[in-house]
Amino acid sequence: MERLDKIISTTGKKSRREVKLLVKQGRILVDGVPAAAPEMKVDPAVSEILLDGEDIGYRRFTYIMLHKPAGVLSAVEDKRQQTVLDLLPEELQKRGLSPVGRLDKDTEGLLLLTNDGELTHKLLSPRHHVDKVYYARVEGTLEQADCDAFAAGMTLGDGLECMPAGLEILSPGEALVTLQEGKFHQVKRMLAARGKPVTYLKRLSMGPLQLDEILQPGQFRHLTEEELQSLPR
Ligand code: URA
Repeated sequence: MERLDKIISTTGKKSRREVKLLVKQGRILVDGVPAAAPEMKVDPAVSEILLDGEDIGYRRFTYIMLHKPAGVLSAVEDKRQQTVLDLLPEELQKRGLSPVGRLDKDTEGLLLLTNDGELTHKLLSPRHHVDKVYYARVEGTLEQADCDAFAAGMTLGDGLECMPAGLEILSPGEALVTLQEGKFHQVKRMLAARGKPVTYLKRLSMGPLQLDEILQPGQFRHLTEEELQSLPR
């Protein structure tokens, strides 16, 4: 059971202050009855909550698409450095969100933040074969032999075994890399092992989720209903 104003403010549609007024105006119905008070306790999984006759669209979990900028840590908190959580407003920071996998400090692009642990596991575990696609710029000239090595599955100098991966050459110094796992610095290490060190890296997609090009680095939005439906269950 949660406070009604908390449940509604969690949807991002109305603030707690607005809920207070809406309750006074009788515009919020809980199981068909006008809500008695903003602080009344409701179980959102069981009760129907309507605002002006429409379902408030409450979700147990929060799903945020962030365009991670370079220079920010993929962590929840850090004593010295700015983290991706610091980019969110206070209200969202209190929801126990974590990044789904890490991007290096200097890597940009799609980062999903959620408090849905089960989904996080499904998106990250190599067993679930979720493609992560990266755009990479490198020093040197990419060639077919690099694609073949990626496709065969590489073992790096330090013994790190990499599953077969995709390398699609866009130009001599640019490629799309597709991985189904996410070992530490993996894209950089695989390309460095081919003698083509990465100079710029950006994640474009993770499974069905594509980075929304409307989002500038540092900007975020909630996932749409369609995106939520497309996620592995
Ligand atoms: N691979 C890397 O090398 N860095 C990232 O941030 C993500 C994948």
